[in-house]
Amino acid sequence: QTIYLKDYQPFPFRIERVDLTFRLAPKTTRVISRIAFAPNPERAGRHDLFLHGEKLRLIAARIDGADVPAALLTVTDEGATVAAQALPDGPFLWEAEVEIDPEGNTALEGLYMSGGMYCTQCEAEGFRKITYYPDRPDVMAPFKVRIESDMPVMLSNGNPTASGPGWAEWDDPWPKPSYLFALVAGNLVNLPDSFTTRSGRKVDLNIWVRPGDLDRCAFAMDSLIRSMTWDEEAYGREYDLDVFNIVAVDDFNMGAMENKGLNIFNSKLVLASPETATDLDFERIEGVIAHEYFHNWTGNRITCRDWFQLCLKEGLTVFRDQQFTSAMRSEPVKRIEDVLSLRARQFREDMGPLAHPPRPSSFVEINNFYTATVYEKGAEVIGMLKRLVGDDGYARALDLYFDRHDGDAATIEDWLKVFEDATGRDLSQFKRWYTDAGTPRLSVSEDWRDGTLTLTFTQMTPPTPGQDTKLPRVIPIAVGLLNPNGDEILPTTILEMTEATQSFRFADLASRPVASILRGFSAPVVLEREVPASERAFLLAHDTDPFNRWEAGRALAKDVLVRMVTDDDAPSADYISALGRLLTDDSLDPAFRALCLRLPSEDDLAQTLAEAGRSPDPDRIHTARETLARTVAERLVRPLALTYDAMADRGPFSPDATAAGRRSLRVAALGLLNRIDGGARAQTLFDAAGNMTESAAALACLIEAGRAEAALPAFHERWKGNRLVIDKWFMIQVVHAAPHQAAEVAERLAAHPDFDWRNPNRARSLLGGIAANHAGFHHASGAAYRFYADWLLRLDPVNPQIAARLSTAFETWARYDADRRAMVAAELQRIRSAPGLSRDLSEMTGRILGL
Ligand code: ARG
Ligand code: ZN
Repeated sequence: QTIYLKDYQPFPFRIERVDLTFRLAPKTTRVISRIAFAPNPERAGRHDLFLHGEKLRLIAARIDGADVPAALLTVTDEGATVAAQALPDGPFLWEAEVEIDPEGNTALEGLYMSGGMYCTQCEAEGFRKITYYPDRPDVMAPFKVRIESDMPVMLSNGNPTASGPGWAEWDDPWPKPSYLFALVAGNLVNLPDSFTTRSGRKVDLNIWVRPGDLDRCAFAMDSLIRSMTWDEEAYGREYDLDVFNIVAVDDFNMGAMENKGLNIFNSKLVLASPETATDLDFERIEGVIAHEYFHNWTGNRITCRDWFQLCLKEGLTVFRDQQFTSAMRSEPVKRIEDVLSLRARQFREDMGPLAHPPRPSSFVEINNFYTATVYEKGAEVIGMLKRLVGDDGYARALDLYFDRHDGDAATIEDWLKVFEDATGRDLSQFKRWYTDAGTPRLSVSEDWRDGTLTLTFTQMTPPTPGQDTKLPRVIPIAVGLLNPNGDEILPTTILEMTEATQSFRFADLASRPVASILRGFSAPVVLEREVPASERAFLLAHDTDPFNRWEAGRALAKDVLVRMVTDDDAPSADYISALGRLLTDDSLDPAFRALCLRLPSEDDLAQTLAEAGRSPDPDRIHTARETLARTVAERLVRPLALTYDAMADRGPFSPDATAAGRRSLRVAALGLLNRIDGGARAQTLFDAAGNMTESAAALACLIEAGRAEAALPAFHERWKGNRLVIDKWFMIQVVHAAPHQAAEVAERLAAHPDFDWRNPNRARSLLGGIAANHAGFHHASGAAYRFYADWLLRLDPVNPQIAARLSTAFETWARYDADRRAMVAAELQRIRSAPGLSRDLSEMTGRILGL
């Protein structure tokens, strides 16, 4: 059944404190809860007490020490209700004893076991699988926890208070909602460190891992300390407990979780060494460690009133981790990477059947709304707010937010109000970014006369499911003007568009300038603009805004590729020579040059063609992209080879941005050269590589060159003891398989003894890998569609969250031709007709089909 934002009501009771005792046993864990309730003055009158609870064996329930009479207690699959007449008028104590089965918990939500240790994941609604509780984010309470177990390490939220043989007690003084609860017990070892906050609180830091993993924690710890420092400097936010613990677990449904004082991470976002982790892994670890740490203020101290407000904490925390990464690395490179992923994931979502606003107004299963729209578009909306009110306005608004809402479960309205109060702006129109789905199309026309340039913009947002008409939004458009000789005559200026169509004039110009529009990607829109190739080439050479410089090259490449697909054009020489100049421009950051060398993805081209009203042919797209890559390699063989050699690591490995940027340019050059050297360089690199960035890139190249017969088993043999590297081994093989072989490769790998599909990372490696192989997934045989649907059906009863998440591979089905559409629809219908389908997957398949 559907839950609606408009139905929100406060919970009829408050909670003064929570005491939990856990007697851990793999199949029969006892959870004893003592919860002090009091009537909530916001809800007058007498109310039944409804507590969420799922998959719990209720052993005893008492109110103020007396068993609740059976006639006054109703237990269903969703929870327990105590009739109002069984409750005293004022405060009362609820006590319950339940039994749960962590070992049998394959959904990895609630308390479960991973590699012999106990751990939890409660966001969003997992706590109700631990004990009876009002499992909603607006009910906040201080928790005390006692753990009894024979595990050597026992952790929970807050500060440790006492421990002895077989038990440990924890006390979290900060009121929190149940989704931030965490417990870990296992045979763990720690990397310790410490941090002193600027007001002098000494905090013990620990990263807890399984014994063999201790030598791969240093980078995560360093990232944590830099995050703590940065949050003090940039936002004035200090940490508020005596300890901060991070635990790495191998079986985890998502990236990581910000539980108060006890962050739990997917081990792939903690463990890193040069030999085992790529530069991208290092960058993600740094970013996610920061993200979870930053949640301590934006998420924990200030939480969400209900799950419709999820982007309140996620959008803001993503925005903050993006700022952090920009500060640690390169701001323009980070911006380009973020826009690439926004377009690849969020625009794709926004243009398909799963489109929803950053703040949805209804859902069936909240786990299906941890999306690119809530996270990444949620962050973009904050970036726009900051652009509109300026850096000072933003700083004042954030100070007010922390002041006014510390300890609150807040809403998007509260968030916008602090900006209104701090800056005097009316944000009622801006709010549409939160409530409306869809990516606006922004078209622009230019008029030049009498020394005046007029830019006229028109915005239009296509309909999305449930939202047929869209009103104009506030769009901050960053613009700069360049003289024909390349000098900037108007530095970046924000135009504030509020109407459906609006003109902006630039007068007193000596000659017609070239406009650089939407600098820094100042708003998440699709810019529709016919630009001659010569102007794109000019901007690629001269724009002072690095983002738009990259964007010009990107647009050129897309134009070329689209014409290759639709008109069988030959690759354009202009584009390739512009690329050549960029490649050899040593004044440019290697990481930036690497991004310029990366061709648009096949999925991106398919989306572009679909938007132009053509049904994309995955095979033709693949061939065009391969042809362009080979042509670039042929024409630029010399500079590519020189770059490849020049970017070789000198001296010891460093994961920092400079060294990583050099490696990314090196492997980008390798990827192109591989098309014409028959895999020779890749083989040499594979045999010699001292780091995973180069090793994985070389392996991918060998597969593409059709000469990986020796490398694949060698890689497996070398890394068979390391789960995270074996995940890569699975993924690389399917991502780089030739389109007509992709399904077959995936099937063969699915039968491999190491394909432990109950492990989310392993399942995602193979299934995410085939979905990322555009021409392979959409191969005309339909074999990959069938393979994929079979696995969704197999995964669903075991781990519905993972199955539902993976089902988004089908969200683009409506783009394609009638044959492919029919095949996908049949697979989705087949899934829907499976008995006992989860709420998660049933909601997703229904929405994808547009039901
Ligand atoms: N709050 C976590 C984070 O973004 C993610 C939790 C995801 N939960 C879920 N049910 N998908 O840091
Ligand atoms: Zn988050």
